[in-house]
Amino acid sequence: MTKIVSAINKENATKEALSQLTKSNTVAIPTETVYGLAADATNGIAIAKIFQQKNRPSFNPLICHVDGIKMAMQFGKINDVTKKLINTFWPGPLTLVVPLLENSKAHDLVTAGLGTIGLRCPNGFSREIIEKFGKPLAAPSANRSGRISPTSASHVATEFEHLDLLIIDDGPCSVGLESTILKVDGEVLTLLRSGGISKQHIEEIAGISVLFPEENSAVANKILAPGMMVSHYAPNADVKLNCDTCDDNAAWLGFGEQTVKTTHSLNLSETGDLVEAGSNLYAYMKVLDKTGCETICVAPIPMRDLGIAINDRLSRAAAPKNVQ
Ligand code: TXA
Ligand code: MG
Repeated sequence: MTKIVSAINKENATKEALSQLTKSNTVAIPTETVYGLAADATNGIAIAKIFQQKNRPSFNPLICHVDGIKMAMQFGKINDVTKKLINTFWPGPLTLVVPLLENSKAHDLVTAGLGTIGLRCPNGFSREIIEKFGKPLAAPSANRSGRISPTSASHVATEFEHLDLLIIDDGPCSVGLESTILKVDGEVLTLLRSGGISKQHIEEIAGISVLFPEENSAVANKILAPGMMVSHYAPNADVKLNCDTCDDNAAWLGFGEQTVKTTHSLNLSETGDLVEAGSNLYAYMKVLDKTGCETICVAPIPMRDLGIAINDRLSRAAAPKNVQ
């Protein structure tokens, strides 16, 4: 059963939200754009739950919500142009995709293994929750995959009536449309999604013209939907899927009870828990790839719940690398 808690009693709503977040659970939070399904951006299990609950068939990158520039600077590289935009538009409906800081604590599932991170400081009560939590919240819109974004607490409740989910109700969203997404690459600005803040207004403040993705060859067909590329987040090693045994000299990425004999082997989840497996996927692929093995053999992952997103990502990792 979903539980709706009003933000009128801020102290109580904050307490309830923090209690769920620290238990690695998701919470539906109000923002000025749409309601978000939020979780601790540094916690893989919590983030995997977002994908599972939304029934998202692939691991697209998530926007990382911060309480201001100071927190943003612990996760992304903020140059002078970015700073100008932040000073004008935050808190507000502008997401800035910037280079990821090397030692950022954002979980790989938030960035989808890309070298960039989407940062946004929402206006209103959710900003206060992030401030108290002291860590960013990753949050896509709080709807099941392929459905319309919710702009009220009751929309969220209808979407997730089958779940034990805390929903913080702060009334209808004032913008009602998702945030504008702008990629900042040095002095090159590219509009990845139009939204609450206009292209013209951004150009005025930045003093630089903003490109559409098709005008920027470094971005065209890539960044808009990074998860859609056939070969995406591919390790150096070849990846072989649905294996029952491990090839000689290959590394093994297991799932469930089955064990194999090989020098390098990791298990996504010994108990067969898809949420745990999803949260370990990127990190384990990186570890196995670093061993310098030629092939990573992967055990079959069931095609249900979060397994669909895990298999989607694995099949991209296994695809021939020259195909985009
Ligand atoms: O208004 C909003 O932005 C809402 C509220 C909850 O903040 N959130 C939202 O999230 O719309 P979502 O997941 O539905 O859309 C996020 C978009 C995706 O299309 C994703 O590909 C893109 O942002 N994105 C996130 N991080 C990115 C990155 N590092 N590089 C490129 N695109 C990124
Ligand atoms: Mg959405």
